[in-house]
Amino acid sequence: MLLLDGKIASAAVKAALQAETQLLVQSGKRAPHLAAILVGTNGASETYVASKIRNCEETGIRSTLVRLESDVQESVLLAAIDQLNNDPGVDGILVQLPLPKQISEQKVIEAINPTKDVDGFHPSSAGKLVQGLSTFIPATPYGIMLMLEYFNIETKGKHAVVIGRSNIVGRPMSILLSSNQQRGNCTVTICHSQTPNLKEICLQADILVAALGRPEFVKADMVKEGAVVIDVGITRVDDATAKKGFRIKGDVAFAEVAPKTSAITPVPGGVGLMTIAGLLKNTLQAYKQNA
Ligand code: GUN
Repeated sequence: MLLLDGKIASAAVKAALQAETQLLVQSGKRAPHLAAILVGTNGASETYVASKIRNCEETGIRSTLVRLESDVQESVLLAAIDQLNNDPGVDGILVQLPLPKQISEQKVIEAINPTKDVDGFHPSSAGKLVQGLSTFIPATPYGIMLMLEYFNIETKGKHAVVIGRSNIVGRPMSILLSSNQQRGNCTVTICHSQTPNLKEICLQADILVAALGRPEFVKADMVKEGAVVIDVGITRVDDATAKKGFRIKGDVAFAEVAPKTSAITPVPGGVGLMTIAGLLKNTLQAYKQNA
């Protein structure tokens, strides 16, 4: 069994990015610039955003964090986005999700200028992805593709099963894996909460992507011998014996599933790190297209 180690794969992606930003700055150009908006103080969101900013620093990407109170009015958030849209010194904008109830996530996603949409959530970016056009690929599916590339996982002709149909992971993942491109050309099945025979379908998967957000949902009896398993789950599960009071659990019961697989991502230390690598790559791409 090959451990698809996100630390190793993301370090390679980040080293290449860092070399590129260093060359830019040495040649007198400004550094790429990511602006992140964080609304409220959700613990997981705080951690993700802090990690994104730290990784920007490590790769020579400038970052700005805009913090808004959890009771902020939607109009104030939209105005903050507009300001960043109109700032020629900002290349990429991300608004960390989820957002408080008084704010429409869809409105916020659509307010971001598609040329700065480094999360790839704007309908314009999603539409381009569907049509096989160059665009910003949502960071998690992008990171998974980078990981498959790094570990040279063959996808052509394979049956990929994706559990989850979110706009952030499942849907774009299914499109990338079925696309006529490098690390694509799979036959893809998407499963979701209304799929009756989920276990039987998962058992047919050469590549199984679990992105449903239910801790340890995928058990050994759902996985074919020799399958490649990609675990997108990162749920905080209360655990009084853990230092922080919780543990991070994936969507896959790793201990029982791993021995059956040919390759599997760990949680933590797998897809999460690749998500950040994907975001950083999108930011550099935005800079190249806009600066
Ligand atoms: N919340 C969970 N995943 C993501 C992501 O990739 N981007 C943003 N902005 N919010 C998220």
